[in-house]
Formats: sequence, structure tokens, C-alpha cells
Amino acid sequence: MRIILLGAPGAGKGTQAQFLMGKFGIPQISTGDMLRSAIKAGTEMGLAAKRVMDEGKLVSDEIIIGLVKERIAQDDCAGGFLLDGFPRTIPQADAMKDAGIAVDHVIEFDVPDDVIVERMGGRRVHPASGRVYHVVYNPPKVEGKDDQSGDDLIIRDDDKEETVRKRLGVYHDQTKPLISYYSAEAVAGNCQYHKLDGTQPVEAVSHKLAELLG
Ligand code: AP5
Ligand code: ZN
Repeated sequence: MRIILLGAPGAGKGTQAQFLMGKFGIPQISTGDMLRSAIKAGTEMGLAAKRVMDEGKLVSDEIIIGLVKERIAQDDCAGGFLLDGFPRTIPQADAMKDAGIAVDHVIEFDVPDDVIVERMGGRRVHPASGRVYHVVYNPPKVEGKDDQSGDDLIIRDDDKEETVRKRLGVYHDQTKPLISYYSAEAVAGNCQYHKLDGTQPVEAVSHKLAELLG
């Protein structure tokens, strides 16, 4: 199964990707996590991406498309994958289509901006696994520690309120047009499009997803 998770920053894409990976045994391809790994590794691309990410802007389509194509070509993606944070511009969606990479389901997480800003203030992440927590809504078993590894959780550099608001602006300008793009793809019979109420609690959203995807 090939799935695109579409939604604003903080809409819950990474959280539900963890659930879907476990349920369907398909890998999560998070372009944000891939970029953060490149930053940690100190690569030239990572250093350039960090400047852009810290400003809440998007990394160039060219870099992102190259990263994703390379990742999808790996063996573990043969049975399907979950795209988390990609595509997020029309050129990225076109590049995927041009490369002949079809998708089965596009899932839109609908969450208002004010809920997002509140969520991001409490987010804690485990970079090595991509697991995501919230101090109130999805707390780890032990405060500040990842449930499985016991590693320290961190706050992402781009989770400052000012940067979150910039990222939301970028989402509205550059990513939202994908809603019409994939709705039209669904009408043409190229995929299924589902819109989810992402303001429901984490387990309720997971339950709905399981229902939709069968
Ligand atoms: P990326 O890492 O993709 O960030 P994002 O899309 O902005 O999304 P987030 O990871 O912030 O949110 P999420 O939807 O995964 O929410 P989460 O599950 O964590 O990208 C970062 C940057 O990289 C971009 O700004 C850009 O610069 C660059 N980049 C990445 N991809 C790119 C691309 N394709 N093109 C160009 N540039 C790219 O949840 C958020 C919080 O809410 C957590 O604390 C969680 O516990 C909590 N939560 C989740 N669900 C619920 C719920 N149902 N109820 C209550 N709380 C919840
Ligand atoms: Zn994420």
C-alpha cells in the first residue's frame, strides 16, 4: 500500500505514521526526518537545509525530489510506503507522477491553525526512531524519555511559536493546493482521497485510519 499523509505542520502525520507502520508493515518516508539526519551527520546538504528549515521555509524541490526517489528505489519500499511530509508543492507531486510513482491513498489531516500552535509547544521527539510525543496529549511513560529506548527526548529547533506560524503560512501558500490536486486525481480514478478530522484524540484518529484503509 502506498500512502501520502497530507497536512499542516503538527497535524499528526508523524504520529499516525508510527501507527500505520506497525499496522501495515510499510516504511515511513519522512522528508523532515531525512533532512534532520543530514543535519546531524553534518553533510553540506544538511547544513544548507538547516538554514532554510530554521526560517520555516521549504527546502528546494530539486533536493527533496532527489532524496525521495532514491529512498523509494530501496528494497524495503517494494511492498509500499508512507510518505510523511512529501509531496508538499505541486512540482513535487508532478515529479512523482512523471517518475511513474503511483499512490493508493491520500489522507488529509484537517486541523485548525490555533490547535497546531498549541500542539507544537508541547511536542517532544525521539530523532533516532521518529517517535513523537506531546507532554499533555501523548506523554511518554517516563517524562523526557523515549518509551522503547529510554533515550532523552528533544524539542525540535523549528518548534518555536514564531517559526511554527511561518511554517503554517508556507503550508497555506504552497502545500494546500495539493488538496485540489489529489482530489482531482481521485476523481480521475488514480487514487482514493480521504479527509480526516485531525483534532480528535490520537487513538480516535488511528481508529478512523484503520477503518478507512481496511
Ligand atoms: P517536517 O518534519 O515534515 O515537518 P512538518 O510537515 O512541518 O510536520 P511536523 O513534523 O511538524 O508535524 P506532524 O504532522 O508530523 O505532527 P506530529 O505527529 O509530530 O518538515 C520540517 C521542515 O523540513 C520543513 O519546514 C521544511 O523546511 C523541510 N521539509 C520537509 N519536507 C519537505 C518537502 N517535501 N519539501 C520541502 N521542504 C521540506 O504531531 C505534532 C504534535 O502534536 C506532537 O506533539 C504530537 O504528539 C501531537 N499530536 C499528534 N496528533 C495529535 C492528536 N490527534 N491530538 C493531540 N495531539 C496530537
Ligand atoms: Zn512530522
